Amino acid sequence: MAPERSCAFAPGRVNLIGEHTDYNGGLALPFAIAQGVTVRAETTRGDSGLAETIEAHARDLEESDEFTLAEPGPADGWRAFVRGVVAELGRAGYPLCGARLEISGDVPQGSGLSSSAALEVALCLALAELGSESSEGREDGRHVALDRRDIARLCARVENEWVGAHTGLLDQLASLFGAPDTALRIDFATLEIEPVPLVLDGWRLVILDSGERHAHASSGYNERRDECARACALLGVDSLSEGSAHAVAQLPEPLRLRAEHVLGENRRVREAVAALRTEDLATIGVLLDASHESLRDLFEISTQAVEAAVARLRCAGAAGARMVGGGFGGSILGLFAPDVPPPPDTLEVRPGPGAHLLET
Ligand code: GLA
Repeated sequence: MAPERSCAFAPGRVNLIGEHTDYNGGLALPFAIAQGVTVRAETTRGDSGLAETIEAHARDLEESDEFTLAEPGPADGWRAFVRGVVAELGRAGYPLCGARLEISGDVPQGSGLSSSAALEVALCLALAELGSESSEGREDGRHVALDRRDIARLCARVENEWVGAHTGLLDQLASLFGAPDTALRIDFATLEIEPVPLVLDGWRLVILDSGERHAHASSGYNERRDECARACALLGVDSLSEGSAHAVAQLPEPLRLRAEHVLGENRRVREAVAALRTEDLATIGVLLDASHESLRDLFEISTQAVEAAVARLRCAGAAGARMVGGGFGGSILGLFAPDVPPPPDTLEVRPGPGAHLLET
């Protein structure tokens, strides 16, 4: 018997370093945070058995949506994510049934902390659990039998095809594979994920909201992605991370700048992993600053509000600060040494568990 109720939580993420490298076959070092999205699902019945519709309620927004399983159809905002996940699960051959969904969360939308990936992943886990016919193959006897890398790919298709944001797999993999006190070294050429202990030992990682909301589909994100694809075509490589420094230096502007950011950012991820392994947080601070400069000057995705927020953290004594996520607004990550108090309007973040099912 498939369960009649399910509940799933999926966290947002902070990317310690490695920005705009995921769709370039490069390296990143994200971690899952405590804040996330919870989806409660319950099967619904009509007169003749299980219903064929999904009713979704976004509790924080006090908004609802209703659509048929057979034809989810396009929509805007949060509804596009729900319809997209249902459609993609169906397309992947997953057994779905009519359900009522209640969505709630505490990741601020458009803040660069991956509220959208958290929503997609929580929806996937809750719906797949509801539709699962048997417990065979489930991890821990509870989890759905979908492979977590496949869930990440399915969610990325939702972003790409239903929401129009040509994002990579960073956010979904971080949400799905996160673990307490752990950052994830992700190699996007192979999708190999290596846990790296993130021992803070009194140091603090904090988030400061730049106050500028962003949506990947409408910001310059897709334009940057196109530029990287053009640079690959000129270099004759499948991903920018395969480009040699010599060949990259010959690219026309602004493609040279974009590609140099990617190569430099991959190098910084390797250095950050080495620094974490020796618990050298001061070096992480230096790398955060260098990453921000590269995102601002080479990838050109900073804004005045982002610069003002970075400056505030540095004035407050941060050992390093940089924008996180897609850019063009969103949040700033700051690292503070044990004896330096972060500004009171920041949110402290630490690595927490990845997406999981909850008791209903
Ligand atoms: C957004 C996207 C990710 C990634 C980052 C930049 O968060 O969703 O796929 O490209 O921007 O590193």
